[in-house]
Amino acid sequence: MIAKYTAKISGTGMYVPKKIVNNFDMEKLVDTTDEWIKTRTGMSERHFIADDQSTSDLCYEASIKAIEKSGIKAKEIDMIIVGTISGDYSFPSTACVLQKKLGLKGFPAFDIAAGCTGWIYAMSIAQQFVENGVSQNILVVGAENLTRIINWSDRGTAVLFGDGAGATIVSRADSTDISKIIDTDLTADGTYNELLIQPAGGSKMPASEKSVRENLHTIHMEGNKIFKHAVKSMYSVCDHLLKRNNLDVKSIDWLLTHQANLRIIDALGKKLKIDKKKVIINIEKYANTSAATIPIALDEAIRNKKVRRGDLVLMASFGAGLTAGGLLIRY
Ligand code: UT7
Repeated sequence: MIAKYTAKISGTGMYVPKKIVNNFDMEKLVDTTDEWIKTRTGMSERHFIADDQSTSDLCYEASIKAIEKSGIKAKEIDMIIVGTISGDYSFPSTACVLQKKLGLKGFPAFDIAAGCTGWIYAMSIAQQFVENGVSQNILVVGAENLTRIINWSDRGTAVLFGDGAGATIVSRADSTDISKIIDTDLTADGTYNELLIQPAGGSKMPASEKSVRENLHTIHMEGNKIFKHAVKSMYSVCDHLLKRNNLDVKSIDWLLTHQANLRIIDALGKKLKIDKKKVIINIEKYANTSAATIPIALDEAIRNKKVRRGDLVLMASFGAGLTAGGLLIRY
């Protein structure tokens, strides 16, 4: 596709629910220790959704902030894409529920199910729609409420997840803008689709007394196998983005990857040979919020004045599917 326009991130926002559950609280819920969680994952606490909240509420709060930051009016949004695998319903999409909550209508709104890579997949789609001139301001949200589908009988997964949402406005840039979405790289290897799965609730295994009794509506994950795939696939998308854009890793100002495990982030940083000071990490506060980890960390880094206008930011994620994706921006 020949791009008619350039796309940029014009605003970001994030929201996490109020309730904080730390590792010591987790010790009361499953057979685990603060020490194990910290040393094996880097996590200290996570936020749990309130009983009267759902994923679209998290999206709404993050979106309001992103819209405000971007300087556009809500009615200037002409597409909504939500990356989520834990939406309000199987259908309709959480994007349509969010559209209603924002008081908007009359333009496309849809969800992307790419696991933790959902926000990066959604950003890539948004980039295409802005570059080809069809859209001018797209609201892209990564949001997840995985704590409602935790398998409390599996300590290997129960401690890993938190709830939250990160929102981004992707807008048409004008000729004076230095900010731009430079490139994205998406991939998937469906051979491994069963390594990270919610087995029941879909057409293959509709809800039944048995599926509930056997905990099959919860998260099932083979963590070890995914760990290896994570480093390899994120390295590969980063390598493609750097090579395709003739960039040396030294020119990257910030590396921001999916926050699933500190050891995965460290291993990727080492493989890429990037300066440790350039790696953005917030896993200790929010744990794994799946599709929301990167947009949450990006918003935080912008508000903390780590990431500044003009900085080159390399992002990468991996997740259920198994999917992987990279995103290179000049913020
Ligand atoms: O975002 C989506 C993608 N998902 C991921 O990125 C997850 C990737 N995988 C991982 O992050 C890691 O594999 C985990 C954090 C899930 C697990 O860490 P690990 O170092 O791979 O642990 P393990 O599964 O190999 O288990 C090692 C030991 C086992 O005990 P034994 O058999 O050696 O006695 C587990 O039973 O640690 C035990 N264990 C725990 N102990 C205390 C597992 N979970 C816990 C726990 N507390 N929560």
